[in-house]
Amino acid sequence: MTSELIQDALDVRQRAYAPYSNYFVGAAIATDVGVFSGCNVENASYGLCNCAERTAVFSAVAAGAKNITAVVVATRDGGSPCGACRQVLAEFADADCPVHCVNESGTTTLETTIGALLPHAFTPRNLTR
Ligand code: THU
Repeated sequence: MTSELIQDALDVRQRAYAPYSNYFVGAAIATDVGVFSGCNVENASYGLCNCAERTAVFSAVAAGAKNITAVVVATRDGGSPCGACRQVLAEFADADCPVHCVNESGTTTLETTIGALLPHAFTPRNLTR
């Protein structure tokens, strides 16, 4: 599963729209209703840029997903998800959900979990997904 997600993240990274930062990001997630991927989509109004992870999560939710069970993020240097994306991933993933970061060659730079990336995440009480 992880190798498929890595390939998906590398593939979708090629479709990133990042003319301002030139930092192309691809994300692939496994969910209860299948695998989804997303890229970063930038905008001339910089604050409207959307990260790859959130593109993937929002596509998954729109398709009916409730639970994220694995995450792969691909960047040129193997960077890890930003704080905003950690919170969005945590909304749909258990703390032990694996997060795998790879560089543009597909080499792993970090293997961790949502809980390690975002300890003490804000979660409303009585949340049922
Ligand atoms: N970016 C992501 O797609 N994911 C992250 O977790 C961090 C940053 C994007 C946003 C922007 O398009 C570019 O990378 C540079 O910050």
